[in-house]
Amino acid sequence: MNVLVTGGTGSLGRDLVVALRSAGHRARVMSRRPGTGADWVQGNLATGKGLDAAVADMEAVVHAGTAAAQPWRLRATDVHGTRRLLEAAKRAHVKHIVYVSIVGLEGIAFPYYRAKLAAEAIVAEEIVPWSIQRATQFHTLMEIFLGAFSRLPRLCAIPFAWQFQPVDTRDVAARLVDVTAGRPAGRLPDFGGPEERTFKSLAESWLKARQLDKRLVDMPMPIKFSRQVAEGRLLCPDNLEGKTTFEQYLVRRYGRW
Ligand SMILES: NC(=O)c1ccc[n+]([C@@H]2O[C@H](COP(=O)([O-])OP(=O)(O)OC[C@H]3O[C@@H](n4cnc5c(N)ncnc54)[C@H](OP(=O)(O)O)[C@@H]3O)[C@@H](O)[C@H]2O)c1
Repeated sequence: MNVLVTGGTGSLGRDLVVALRSAGHRARVMSRRPGTGADWVQGNLATGKGLDAAVADMEAVVHAGTAAAQPWRLRATDVHGTRRLLEAAKRAHVKHIVYVSIVGLEGIAFPYYRAKLAAEAIVAEEIVPWSIQRATQFHTLMEIFLGAFSRLPRLCAIPFAWQFQPVDTRDVAARLVDVTAGRPAGRLPDFGGPEERTFKSLAESWLKARQLDKRLVDMPMPIKFSRQVAEGRLLCPDNLEGKTTFEQYLVRRYGRW
């Protein structure tokens, strides 16, 4: 099957391209940057440039491109960009779009999640036959959060009570290969990691694996978003689907935990 991966250079996208190719599919990477690898196309969701060429000859699109790291580009990229991509896919007679989204996002007051919800609604307009696969937070995102909370010397200050069910991008990628090769199925069951964890317990393992000499301290945040994450709204305890624990991921990355 010929599959375009938007966000093919991102945390999930890189693993997805490998998984699709290992399963015998053709995976074309879309990026804003000029090509550095095989089967690469330059395209920009925020402007629409290159999208028609990106979807040409593709049977399916996995849409994992996002401006999560550039919030000022969120609406242009994740919301309007999703519509632009779908319209290009329709013109190219693409048979299936798989949109990657986030478990529990309607329960959290966070601008990024509002943009994702708007994008889900556009996908569900049926411009192209669709599936939406929601996943919990990736192990790589846990590291981004922990790095951000560890900027002060000798201190890692985090909200201890935040709850996550982190999942490995390789496990999500394997699920997406099956979803993409299957029939368009609408909103699919959530895909979560193998364990419910407090942020504190994840931080303890991360500090150990990185051999960082930092004191771990609780930093409760008296804001709605933080309370909601602590309430466990990002969890899907009935869908402990991923196999890889956070510690197994740390061993793969750092050789220890
Ligand atoms: N991170 C998580 O924990 C998590 C959890 C559940 C679901 N998800 C969802 O999974 C998907 C992938 O997330 P991720 O964390 O892997 O993303 P990521 O690492 O932040 O990568 C973002 C990707 O989007 C591309 N991109 C950004 N702006 C673009 C634009 N204007 N036009 C075209 N491409 C653009 C980037 O490509 P270039 O820079 O090469 O252009 C990059 O490949 C997202 O939909 C996200 O909401 C993420």
